[in-house]
Amino acid sequence: MIKKQIKTQKDYIDLINELIEHDKHYYIECKPVISDYEYDLLMKELEKWEKDHPDLILENSPSKRVSEAITQGFKHGEHISLMLSLANTYSKDELGDFINRVYKLLETENVKFCAELKMDGTAISIRYEKGVLTRALTRGNGKVGDDVTANVKTIKSLPLKLQGLDIPDVLEIRGEVFMHKKTFQNLNIIRQEEGLEVFANPRNAAAGSLKLLDPKEVSKRRLDIVCYGIAEAESIVSSQFEMHKYFKKLKIPISDEKHFKLCSSLEEIVEFADYIDSQRKNLPFEIDGIVIKVDDLRLHKKLGFTGKHPRYAAAYKFQPEQATTEILDITIQVGRTGVLTPVAELKPVFLAGSTISRATLHNQDEIMRKDIRIGDVVTIEKGGDVIPKVVSVDFSKRKKDAKIFHMPKKCPVCLSDVEHIENEVAVRCSNPNCSGQTLKKLIYFASKEAMDIEHLGIKVMGALFEKGLVKRPSDIYLLDESQLSTLEGFKEKSIKNLLDSIEKSKKCPLSKFLMALGIKYVGKETADLLADYAKDIKTLTHLKKEDLVTIEGIGEKVADSIVSYFEDENNLKEIEKFVKNGIEIQKPKEKKHFGHVFSGKTFVLTGSLENFTRSEAANLIKERGGKTSSTVSNNTDYVLVGEDPGSKYEKAKKIKTITILSEEDFKSLL
Ligand code: IVH
Repeated sequence: MIKKQIKTQKDYIDLINELIEHDKHYYIECKPVISDYEYDLLMKELEKWEKDHPDLILENSPSKRVSEAITQGFKHGEHISLMLSLANTYSKDELGDFINRVYKLLETENVKFCAELKMDGTAISIRYEKGVLTRALTRGNGKVGDDVTANVKTIKSLPLKLQGLDIPDVLEIRGEVFMHKKTFQNLNIIRQEEGLEVFANPRNAAAGSLKLLDPKEVSKRRLDIVCYGIAEAESIVSSQFEMHKYFKKLKIPISDEKHFKLCSSLEEIVEFADYIDSQRKNLPFEIDGIVIKVDDLRLHKKLGFTGKHPRYAAAYKFQPEQATTEILDITIQVGRTGVLTPVAELKPVFLAGSTISRATLHNQDEIMRKDIRIGDVVTIEKGGDVIPKVVSVDFSKRKKDAKIFHMPKKCPVCLSDVEHIENEVAVRCSNPNCSGQTLKKLIYFASKEAMDIEHLGIKVMGALFEKGLVKRPSDIYLLDESQLSTLEGFKEKSIKNLLDSIEKSKKCPLSKFLMALGIKYVGKETADLLADYAKDIKTLTHLKKEDLVTIEGIGEKVADSIVSYFEDENNLKEIEKFVKNGIEIQKPKEKKHFGHVFSGKTFVLTGSLENFTRSEAANLIKERGGKTSSTVSNNTDYVLVGEDPGSKYEKAKKIKTITILSEEDFKSLL
């Protein structure tokens, strides 16, 4: 390759265009025409010229994609029009109801719909001012989002500057930032190798990446985008279909033409949906359904909104993706509380963006109910959760030698007896010092939901345990540089990172600390209740069962477990060691709002809220003296119902003493 040299401004513009072309070949067509090395040389030349001519740098220069600055958190920005979510339909009948509602409201059946992919990523609103990308906001609460401009600029398929005539002074487009399945898989492989927590799915990976503070890191995540909307679009285009064409002209990324369709009837929409569903597996990115929008934008205003959904559009969600594979073996995993979980070891199969080789079988009852045997051909499914499950067995393919599985009588890790606890389907290893349990406890202790010690994931903890450097959680706080340097791949930077995050975790709220101890039956809710009640760890260790059961939300079984945990000398010694090794347990904040209508009331939350995350809502309740519970019972006072409520809502409606609150009611009571 001839080395490029920029002499004139025209050379500079040519080089920009050349690099943009290469980005297109690489990121959009996935067919690079030059090597990475050659690309880097061109980029270096561009950057050299820009350094010498800072006043002449153009907005669309590829060098502007990654800014140097590391943000200290995100500013907030207000959306020019609300970012709403769509009402979901899950069956063809429900889809038909949506179409009929539109016909009825418009008083005609002569309506065209634009059907398109429902990309499974994270929503974004991007503003171009005089054609230049100036701001990108996440959806946030629909009114206000996080300003992630620097991160969005790293998306190579997105123009930094729009070319062409008649570009409005301000153009705010809406789309979905996503991660390709392949990129997601590679990212998780690397994270696993580094002992970091893997992302559950490409959607989480995309959303997580957008929230990184260092745009350079975001750039490595190779995010992509598809755009499907314009805020206040009526002033720019007249139909959704035309919007796609408009975007195409401006080189704003849209779905492939095969992936949107103008339909004139429910039948056509269903045909399109079935076609897309059949292609879903082969797509390089994840979708979770299709979106159907009334095509004529003038009709959108006429149809309006119901609460927070538009009446002119709906999502039609596909069933979770399934795959067929074979059970090669059933093994046992020992959890942190000693529960033995049977796990199906599968012939590796690709499903929803990752290769699956294991699926949980929950317990013996579940195995018997589904009649699952070793050697069976099974259908597996990956729903919203990370861990896939076995849905059913293909009995027509059952081999004669398919083996019935029985739970072992001994723990596979420490060979102690297994005990069956009354009224529980689970069986547990009876040895509290079982090394399988201990390692799981350590991993849990450092995990995000407990002490949240970054850089101390499964792999690193496994190595520390194996080397005998960490035998119990309090040992983590004694680790030093020389010990960490014995770990494979641990150099100066990784050692510093880990020691810093250990240090950071030392200041810790009482409820988090309680969670991290891994007391049987003590999850987040119980830990919060205990922290609020006892205020400090010392008081807690002395509480008796009679005291504990007076706490609303704590029953006898949980109280027994807490008492027996604090009766154990070893546990008390471990708590002393934590304090000795530098942990500072912080008392819960005093509640300010006693006397509030929420005081002493029990809430259950169901569905998603527009203005708050669930934990924000729970905190607001707690700050006002109320508490939250995960189950609806006669003790429930209020059920706060968001979008797509679950069965809790149905149950609550049947109990006369429960007050059902909409988000609006909740806000006014606050
Ligand atoms: S239109 C007024 N079109 O699905 C609603 N959304 O619950 C505007 N999504 O928040 C959204 N693909 O993040 C629209 N082709 C598409 C989409 C799409 C994915 C996401 C988007 C939105 C959610 C709807």
